[in-house]
Formats: sequence, C-alpha cells, structure tokens
Amino acid sequence: MTEITLNPLEHATQLLKQGKLVAIPTETVYGLAADACNPKAIEALYAAKNRPSYNPLIIHIADPEWMHQWAVEIPTQAWVLAKALWPGPLTLILKRHPKVSKRITAGQESVALRIPNHPLTLALLQQFNRGIVAPSANPSGRISPTTAEHVRLHLKHRVDYILEGGPCSIGIESTILSLLDKQPMILREGAISATEISMILGCPVMSHSQITDSQKKPLIPVPGSDTTHYAPLKPLYLFKKNEFEQTIKKLNLYDQKCDVLSFDPKPLNPLLNIQQWLQMPSDPKVYAQQLYNHLHQFDQSPSHCILVESLPTTGQWQAIQDRLQRAQTYLS
Ligand code: TXA
Ligand code: MG
Repeated sequence: MTEITLNPLEHATQLLKQGKLVAIPTETVYGLAADACNPKAIEALYAAKNRPSYNPLIIHIADPEWMHQWAVEIPTQAWVLAKALWPGPLTLILKRHPKVSKRITAGQESVALRIPNHPLTLALLQQFNRGIVAPSANPSGRISPTTAEHVRLHLKHRVDYILEGGPCSIGIESTILSLLDKQPMILREGAISATEISMILGCPVMSHSQITDSQKKPLIPVPGSDTTHYAPLKPLYLFKKNEFEQTIKKLNLYDQKCDVLSFDPKPLNPLLNIQQWLQMPSDPKVYAQQLYNHLHQFDQSPSHCILVESLPTTGQWQAIQDRLQRAQTYLS
C-alpha cells in the first residue's frame, strides 16, 4: 500500500494516471479500477483478480457523451436509458469502438459501459477525465465486496490503494443489458428490472435466464456463467421455508457448525449446531444490501457451512435469487 500525501481523491487520481490499481466505491459493489487506456494496467488488473482472459471488463464513464469514445452505432435506446437511469446500476452492452482494446472486451466486438452512482467515484472519473475499467474488487469467482474492509480482507496486497466510500447502498452488481440486437436483453439481473427498462423504452425486454437454449446465441458471454461464481469459500446450501431441520437431516449436517440466513427466527432445538442465525428483512432491497456482507462475515466465522432460506419467487427477488443460485454448492 502507498502512503497518502494528497487528499484521497487526488491520490487515487494520481495512482490511476501512473497505471496503478485503485479499489473504488460504487453504489453496487466496490470495483478494482485501472486506466482503460493503459494496456499494462489492464494486464495487472486481470492478474490481481486472477481473472480468466475470456471475461471482459466494464468501462466506467462520467458522462453519457463519453459513450462516443468507446462505442459506435449507439442506438437511441442507449441515450434514453442513460438519461433515465445513469448514474445508476445499469451497464449497457454496445458495439465496440475500434480504439477499445480487445483485452478489455475479451476479443469481442461489443463493449460494456456504465456511469456508477457514487459521489466519490463520479468525482474521480471527472478528475481523471477518461474511462476506468473496474470489475468487482474480489478474487475471480468470489463474493463481491460491499465495504472497503471486504477489499482489504481479500485483495489487500494486490491493490495499490483503496478509496473509502462507505458501504455500498445497493449491494449487488449492476443489471447488464445488451442493446446489440433490436430486442434488448438482460444478461445479468440487478437492481434495475426488465419491467422498469421495458417501461422506459416502451418495448419488451427479454432476460437471458428466461430464454430457451435454442434461442441463445452461442457466443454471447453471460456474466457469472462459470459454475461457481459470487461464491463464499464455504459450502452454501439452500433450504425451503420451514424445512431447516429436514435439510440438516437430509444433508447429514448435524456435526457441522452452520451459519444461517432465514426470514424466520432461530429454532429452539438445542441439538442444532448453529453458529449464527441471522433473521433477514422481507424487503428485497434491504436484503440485497446486506447479503454479501453477511456471506463475507460467515466466511470468516468458525462455521463449516452456510445455509440460506430460499427466496420468494416474485420478480423483485430475481437478481438476488440469481446470485444465490450461483453461490450454492450442488450435490452430486
Ligand atoms: O456493478 C457492477 O457492474 C460492478 C461495479 C464495480 O461497477 N462491476 C462488476 O464487474 O460487477 P465484473 O467484472 O465483476 O462483472 C462484469 C460482467 C462480467 O461478468 C462480464 O462478463 C460482463 O460484465 N461483461 C463485460 N463486458 C461484456 C460484454 N461486452 N458483453 C457481455 N458481458 C460483458
Ligand atoms: Mg465480479
């Protein structure tokens, strides 16, 4: 870590100019930022996260007009969404500008752009005055950080500086929307739903998770499509409402200390080997804000495994459901 001689914002800007890596706060999760025009910094970023080279990066910008620097043939829909929802938790997939490094786009002809909604990072982008690539600031495949402390825990020695910006207000990664085809398609669910986008654009919006395999384009890379993603280090199992004890029995977890997220209060049965039982809020926004923090905390606890109660199946829970599905341990 470098010693601070300037104020945090100026210091972060200087480091980015020198090709260094800076963890930055956003409203979704903390990102690991590098200069989008510096090939060496981009290499260092992939190395620091141990990120596979086939996984492209989001370029963070400060103003919708900057889209022209990174994308071509920008559809009207992109301008409409930018006006309505940026800065905010929405990433747009557009046709790549020829100057964008193929290392950023993992060799594809598309590029991901977003304006994050955090005052410090917006000020940083303005001062730096060009695009910043920023994947979530976690080792590849693991849970995204929602506080500076999470970054410190998992990436401390691989980051040149952490710009502290408090806990992230949304807590899960941005919605990713492809505008490459006529019909907009959600590639990753997030705080902004298909319904919201559809209402703004006045047209149907599909979600990649809901279309059949034969409708899928083979080459669309879908974020987090590796089998484990957004995953804690410990095994994570889902259990249905009122079936906690049955699940412990079924998985034979009686001798395993477990940490639990549930909507219900802790059961009284003293035979259960519960390390921590956290009662979760029924509001999906509040749940999302807390989820990764709890999973980080559980990874640090003396428990052996994590159990999470299944979520309601209504639309508002879809983005969180998607993260839990990918985080869970599948039993063969
Ligand atoms: O909320 C967020 O989006 C956070 C904050 C830091 O902005 N960033 C984030 O980045 O979640 P990352 O790299 O952890 O996830 C971005 C996802 C990747 O899984 C990648 O596959 C996808 O965006 N992506 C990037 N460029 C793409 C492209 N051209 N086409 C399809 N997906 C793309
Ligand atoms: Mg990530």
